[in-house]
Amino acid sequence: MENIGYYNGTFAPMEQLMIPALDRGVYFGDGVYEALRVERHRFFALKEHLSRFRASLDFLRIPFAMTDEALTEILQEAASRVDSDSQQLYFQVTRGTSTRTHSFPEGVEPNLMILSRAVPLADLVEYRRVVVLPDTRWGHCNIKSLNLIPGVLAAQIAKERGCSEAVFHREGVVSECSSSNLLMLKGGVLRTAPADERILPGVTRGHFLMLAQQLNIPVDETAFSLEEMMAADELMITSTSAHGLPVGFVDDKPVCGRDKTLLRRLQMVYREFFWDSVGKD
Ligand code: PDD
Repeated sequence: MENIGYYNGTFAPMEQLMIPALDRGVYFGDGVYEALRVERHRFFALKEHLSRFRASLDFLRIPFAMTDEALTEILQEAASRVDSDSQQLYFQVTRGTSTRTHSFPEGVEPNLMILSRAVPLADLVEYRRVVVLPDTRWGHCNIKSLNLIPGVLAAQIAKERGCSEAVFHREGVVSECSSSNLLMLKGGVLRTAPADERILPGVTRGHFLMLAQQLNIPVDETAFSLEEMMAADELMITSTSAHGLPVGFVDDKPVCGRDKTLLRRLQMVYREFFWDSVGKD
């Protein structure tokens, strides 16, 4: 199959998947999600994604009883139904199905939905354009909740301006991007905002920091300002499918391109780590 959808035990092609209108994810966005890579039907960093998923569930107080083992089996079954060696698998759990009342309904079970399809890894060579926008999201950006409207609007503005991403800032301090983290290279130091409630603690971000430390590249988890961003040697966008995309223009102003050697080294080391983790064969 080209892609797959799953909802509470039923598999169907994504386009045909039906879910109830009273799923609280539909009208409240009352749920959490994860998105991860599946290469040759093997998961990358599943453990890290599951651990962040559990943290998000705990924060929203969604009692999802399924064990990681049982969930993994279903995710694996979903991925195995897609005829692609390079998938992005999305899964979400909502609080349950009930008539629309804001407080938690009683006696309902959480709903599990899975969507997986072929998504290629993003090219690492081309320098991307980004747009800067105020971060109007809520105070818990570390939680991967379904409520993504500020990110959706920012991504649309970026698209309309011919950009790949929108960089968010709060009063001049850079947080992250609409659906990725932002890392900076300056004077040989890898710097990015700390993993607090202003950013999503990206799995890819975490791996970049870990690999840099292993290479004795100094790491600094201190947020940087918009001015510092404009003076960066290099800027990198990271997410599940974006393994350190270089940034060449911010609001149409040329930036970066000053430490291509270190940029390429980090990208390559990351890709090696990635392929080693999923198995090269
Ligand atoms: N987005 N920051 C935000 C706001 C994100 O939505 C994402 C991921 C990241 C990067 O996290 P990770 O490295 O774990 O993918 C950072 C996913 C891909 C999405 O929403 O589809």
